[in-house]
Parts: sequence; structure tokens; C-alpha cells
Amino acid sequence: MTAIAAEIERFNHLSATWWDSRGPMRPLHVVNALRLDYVVSQIALHLGRDTASSLAGLSMLDVGCGGGLLSEALARQGAQVVGVDASPGNVAAARLHAQSQGVTVDYRLGEPTAVLSPQERFDVVLALEVVEHVSNVPAFLATAAACLAPGGILFVSTIDRTVKSFVVAIVGAEYLLRVLPRGTHQWSMFVRPDELSNALAPAGLQRRDLRGMRYVPLLHRAAWCRSTQVNYIATYTHGAAREDKP
Ligand SMILES: C[S@@+](CC[C@H](N)C(=O)[O-])C[C@H]1O[C@@H](n2cnc3c(N)ncnc32)[C@H](O)[C@@H]1O
Repeated sequence: MTAIAAEIERFNHLSATWWDSRGPMRPLHVVNALRLDYVVSQIALHLGRDTASSLAGLSMLDVGCGGGLLSEALARQGAQVVGVDASPGNVAAARLHAQSQGVTVDYRLGEPTAVLSPQERFDVVLALEVVEHVSNVPAFLATAAACLAPGGILFVSTIDRTVKSFVVAIVGAEYLLRVLPRGTHQWSMFVRPDELSNALAPAGLQRRDLRGMRYVPLLHRAAWCRSTQVNYIATYTHGAAREDKP
């Protein structure tokens, strides 16, 4: 098990605000469209599909789905989505919102090892903004990778452990600009891109894209950037590596 009780409790405490686009989860609302576009286009590229229909019929696992911002958006595009989260409040908020929108997502409360059957495999697995909140990143990622069907595609987004991320993501975002509640992140738990790759290599997964994401706090806008020294997202598939330039 990789959940940290204090972290889950902290997210649980915020669960009622999950779908408030101007509340504490505002940064996730802001990045959601950007990361959805990224996921759609990477899948289209991987499967040789058109972006307009790239998610249709795919099974997708959103690990650490929170209140379901991305799970719901993926389901709206035709994917069959299972969302897993260890926070009871977040899963309740996710279920309630999906129901109110008439969107079908299979939300499950607990850690992936507990709520997924050993046979379950998914075309797409996503672990977005979650590895920096778990106790054992390699174990968490090994579980996520084991859920991936042969030929599948895995996405991980997190924050790099750099001097820049300490200044921007902790001091700037939590203390000066208050974009995130204080204590949202601990710098020591940020994850370097190569640490992700090393953890996923034993499962035969290779990184094929790495993209930096910039959050502009005062404007509440998000955009891609060359630097991966703060926020970034990475794509992994089985087989030979093929990096796309940002
Ligand atoms: C920052 S939120 C990200 C939510 C969502 N992935 C997103 O990006 O919109 C992290 C979520 O991971 C969940 N979480 C943390 N550790 C977990 C674990 N070991 N298993 C399942 N969920 C976990 C928390 O409860 C929280 O909802």
C-alpha cells in the first residue's frame, strides 16, 4: 500500500471544493483542458487514430483520480473510465458530479491494489499529479504499469525535484501567491523524470514523450514550455523509446 494517511486526509478535507473552479483546486481546473488535449493527441499518435475519435471505446484507468476532473472529460470523449482514489470524500464528489452531468465513470474507493482485480487491464493508464503524494513511488508505478494492457499507453504527470520547483511550486505557489493551500506539496516528494523512467523500466515501459507545463499564477493560465524543471507530463509505452520534441 502506498497511500499516506495524512495526505489522503488533507485531500479528503478539500473534497467539497473539488469542482469549484475558483477554489483550492483551481490549478487542476486550469490545466485540465491542456492535459486532456495532450492525452488525446498522444493516444491518436500511438494508435494511428484521428484525434476526434482517438478515445472511443478505449478502457482507461485514472489512478488517484481525485474528484474526477480528468476521468469525466475522458468519459465524455467515449472512453470507458475507471477512476480509483483513496479519499472517500473525493470519490463521493466524483460520483455525485458525474451523476449530475449524466456521465458514466466507474469510480472505486481505495488503493489500486485493493480495488482492481488482478486480471483487469486497461488500454490507457493515467497517474496525474499523484506520485508526489505517495509513500513509495516505484511500488505505486509498478502497480499502475501492471494494469496496462499489452500495447497500452501510460501517462504520468508530476513536479520535478529542482531548485526551481522549490522556488516556484512551494514558495511562490503556496506562500507568496497562494495559488495552492500551504502544505499541498513537500519538495522532497517531488519526482525527477528519470526516477519515473527507472521505476517503469522493469515493466518494459519506455518514455516516448516528455513535456514541460507552465502555470501562470496571476492569469490562471497554463501552457506548454521547454523546461521540465517544475511541472511536467510524460508518456510511456511498451517497446522502443521515441521522444517527440516539445
Ligand atoms: C493532487 S490530487 C490529483 C487528482 C487528479 N489525478 C487530477 O490530477 O485531477 C491526488 C489524488 O491522489 C489520491 N491519492 C494519493 N495517494 C493515493 C494512493 N496511494 N492510491 C489512490 N489514490 C491516492 C488523493 O486522494 C488525491 O485525490
